[in-house]
Amino acid sequence: MSKHTKHIHEVETRVQLAKQNMGGTYRLAYHIMAPVHWMNDPNGLIQWNGEYHVFYQFHPDNPTWGPMHWGHVKSNDLVHWERVPIALAPSEWYDEGGCFSGSAVNDNGVLTLIYTGNVWMNEEQTELKQYQCIATSKDGIHFEKDEANPVLAEPPFDCQGHIRDPKVWKHGDDWYMVLGTREGNNGKVVLYKSKDLRHWEYVNIMAESDGSLGYMWECPDVFHLNGKDILLFSPQGIEPDDHRFQNLHQTGYLVGTLDYETGKLAHGAFEELDKGFDFYAAQTFEDEKGRRILFGWMDMWESPMPTQAHGWAGALTIPRLLELADDEKLLMKPVPELQLLRQEHVRLESISVNDGTHTLPVQGDRLELLVRFSLADFRGNAFGVKVRCAEDGSEETVFRYDVKDAFVTFDRNRSGKGEGGIRRAILDKQEDVVTFHVFIDRSSVELFVNDGRLVMTGRIYPSETSQGIELFAEGGKLTVLAVEAWTLKDIWGERV
Ligand code: FRU
Repeated sequence: MSKHTKHIHEVETRVQLAKQNMGGTYRLAYHIMAPVHWMNDPNGLIQWNGEYHVFYQFHPDNPTWGPMHWGHVKSNDLVHWERVPIALAPSEWYDEGGCFSGSAVNDNGVLTLIYTGNVWMNEEQTELKQYQCIATSKDGIHFEKDEANPVLAEPPFDCQGHIRDPKVWKHGDDWYMVLGTREGNNGKVVLYKSKDLRHWEYVNIMAESDGSLGYMWECPDVFHLNGKDILLFSPQGIEPDDHRFQNLHQTGYLVGTLDYETGKLAHGAFEELDKGFDFYAAQTFEDEKGRRILFGWMDMWESPMPTQAHGWAGALTIPRLLELADDEKLLMKPVPELQLLRQEHVRLESISVNDGTHTLPVQGDRLELLVRFSLADFRGNAFGVKVRCAEDGSEETVFRYDVKDAFVTFDRNRSGKGEGGIRRAILDKQEDVVTFHVFIDRSSVELFVNDGRLVMTGRIYPSETSQGIELFAEGGKLTVLAVEAWTLKDIWGERV
C-alpha cells in the first residue's frame, strides 16, 4: 500500500467517526457538502465513463481551512450524489502543505487529476512554493500520484510563489493548461502546452490585470461557447465600484478570442458572474452531451459561517448550465436534471397584489420557486418575493425589482444569523415579464432572473421555523402571472 493510500485510510477513519455527530438545522438538503468539517473550491469536474465526478477542497479535521485534501462525490444524474473516499491527501514533499485546487481530464481512459502541491516555506505560512502535480486512477476512486511529479516546478517569472489551480483541456492534439498567478501586484493567467501531461512548455501570459483587476488571479478556466473563448477566473483585490465588486473577492469572466499560437486572449471588459454574496472559485466542464456546466463554491473567504458551530462549513452551488448570449453576456441556468428532485407541486395563477404583501399558501426550506411578474401593466415602484419568512415577521430574505432603474436587490439584513447586507445589480435586458426562479435550501438561496440573465447567490441562516413565502408590491397594483413551487428532495437526510 502506498504512503498516500495509507494516509487516506487514516483520515477516512477520523472522518467516519466525526460524521456520527454531523447534523443541525443548516445542513443542506440537495447541495454538495463535505461529510464533515471544512470545504471550499470545486475541483476536478468531469463526466468520466458516463458518471459525473465532483472533487472539492476538503479539510477533514476541523471546520476551518487547513491542510487541503480532495473530497470526492459522484453521480449518474448531476443531482443524486454519493460520497466516495478522499481522492488526494498531502503525502509527498511537493504537496506536504496541501493538495490545492485543480482539474480532471480523461487521458486515454485514465482519469487524471492535475492539482497544485503547496509547500510552506516558513512556520508562519506567509511564504510558499507551489508545484503542479498529477495523480491517476483506473477505477475513478483510488488515485496514485505520478512518478513524474512535480510535472511543473518553476514559475515562468517571479510570482512570489503564487502559481496554482491548473485547468487542463485538449485542443487539437495538444493539452493546454492555465494557471492563476501574479507578478508584483497584478493578477495574471499563464498558458502552458504539453503532449503528455508530464512535460509542459510555457506559452505566454494569456491575460493580466492592468492594475484595476486585482493582485492575484485564482482558479482560471478556459472554454469555448457560441464562437468565443471565455476566461473565467477569481481575482482577489478588485476595489468596490458603486454596486459592483462588493464581495471580498470576485468571480467573473472575459470574453474574446484566444490565439493558441501566441497564447494571448484578445478580450472585452471584466464582468462579474454572480452578483450575490457567496460565489467563488467556480469551475466548469463539458459533459458528454456537450453542455458547459458550472459549480461554484457557495461561500466567501473570511465571511462568518454560523455552521462552524455545528462542525461544518462550505457547500457548492447547484449545477448551472452556461450559455453565451449574442451580446456576449454569460448566462447561468439551473440544469434541467434538477427537476428530478421535485416533489410536491403547487401552481397558482393570476394573483393580484395590491400595494402591500400577499402571503402564499406555500412554505418550505427546500423549495424551488418560479414567480412570473407582469411588468407591462405595473405602475408602482417595486415588487418582489420574500422567502424564509418568520410567522411573527422577525425574519425574511428579500428579492426585489425596482422599476425605475431596473435594479434587482437581494437583501439579507433580516435573514437570521450570519452577515447581513444587500447586493444590487441591473437587469440589463428588459422584457414584459420578470421571472424570479429561486432555489431555496436550509442555509442558502440562489436567484435566477429572466432565464439566467442575472444570478445572485447567498448563504442565509434563518430559524428552522421561518418557512413562509410572500409576494409584495410597492406603490401600485401588481399582477403575478403565475407562481409554481416544488418541494425539493432531501438527498442527504442529514439535518438531525
Ligand atoms: C481559491 C483558493 C485556490 C487554492 C485553494 C486552496 O479559493 O485560494 O487558489 O488552490 O483555494 O484551498
